[in-house]
Parts: sequence; C-alpha cells; structure tokens
Amino acid sequence: MPAARRLGTLRGPMKRIVILISGRGSNMQAIVQRCAEQSWPARVVAVIANRPEAEGLAFARERGIATAVVDHRAQASREAFDAALAGAIDGFTPDLVVLAGFMRILGAAFVQRYAGRLLNIHPSLLPAFPGLHTHRRALAAGCKLVGATVHFVTAELDHGPIVMQSAVPVLPGDDEGALAERVLATEHVIYPQAVRWFVQDRLVIESGLVRQLDGASQVLM
Ligand code: GRF
Repeated sequence: MPAARRLGTLRGPMKRIVILISGRGSNMQAIVQRCAEQSWPARVVAVIANRPEAEGLAFARERGIATAVVDHRAQASREAFDAALAGAIDGFTPDLVVLAGFMRILGAAFVQRYAGRLLNIHPSLLPAFPGLHTHRRALAAGCKLVGATVHFVTAELDHGPIVMQSAVPVLPGDDEGALAERVLATEHVIYPQAVRWFVQDRLVIESGLVRQLDGASQVLM
C-alpha cells in the first residue's frame, strides 16, 4: 500500500477521546489499555481532572497522555467551572468526551455543547439509583441484581440514552465494598466496549434509545 494511503487510513478516521476523572481512574485505565491492545481507530488525547491529586493522572502521564487539571475549587461558580472545563476540553478537539468517575455535576449548557458525544458510566442499573451511594441503596432495597450503566449524558443527572448495561448478583453476606468490587470489574468490560462502538461509528440514537448497528448484545451478565 502506498505510504500516503497508509497515512490517510491511519489519520483520517482516528477519533480523539478526552477522558475526565476525579479519582483513581480505573475505568479510564481500562479504556486506554483496550484502545491500545485492540487498535481502535481512536486515541486518548487527554485526561483531565477536577482535582490535582486525582490518582489516575499519574497513569496518564506515564503513558505519555496529555493531562490537565481544572480545579473546581478555584472557580467562582458552577458556570465558571463548566466554562473553564469546556475550554480545556476543546483545546484537545475531541470527537468524544468520556466521564470516568468524574464527580462533578455538569450544567445544561455544558451537556448541550457535547450532546451526542458525551458518555458516562454509573454504578447502578439505571434508571434505578441515580446519584450517590448506589450499592448501599441497592442493598437496603433488597435488590437481587445490581450492575452498571454506560449512557449518553443529558442535562438530567444519571439519565440519558443507555448504551450498555452489566448485571451481577447480590450474594449472601455482601456489603457495599463487595458489591462495588463485583460491579467495577464489569465496568471495566462494558465501558471500553461502549467507547469502542462509538469510535467505530457502530451506535445510533433513535427516539432516545441507543441501537448497536451490528446487533451486538448491549448486555453483560
Ligand atoms: C465507578 O464505579 C464509576 O461507575 C463511578 O465512579 C467510579 C469510578 O471509579 N462513576 P474509577 O475512578 O473509574 O476507578
């Protein structure tokens, strides 16, 4: 194949991914690793945190991925934070923005700016248990199944078109930590899978529902 064609093939369809984190960033790490191992037509071009001490930043730096911090504590208002964050993100011209354990609520204008290219993972079977302490609440409710949801982000917290869900059983003696660990292991499978489909243009949103164009299962059980 001529060199020019090879370059075009490599560069043309390459999607640029920016990942936002607040803490350890294990989902971010899973996405970075799968992207490299499976040669996605994509590159994680930046990892941005809202806390300078976010542990995941070190992993990104070691991998040679650009990092940035937009500290919410340094901003006068939520709107100012959203604007500063959008400025940092847009500097990397992403095709996709991935929230991976990003613990700030984003305003409607921010969400609208990235509509259709902003993904989140939430550790519950949405629409059950939006918000915090999902595993504690699932245990208190006597749930027999728990899981995680990858969804496109809308202005409503932890809502939006569902790309993929995982489900695991609640076992006798489980506490919050045990559930979190069991669910997290599935997050590391479904989030990379969902991002991969996005960068391969294999997802469409129709009437608020997400369809995988190859008919692949959007469930992990
Ligand atoms: C995950 O459980 C994710 O679902 C939730 O926050 C946690 C982040 O973990 N939104 P990590 O930072 O990806 O390790």
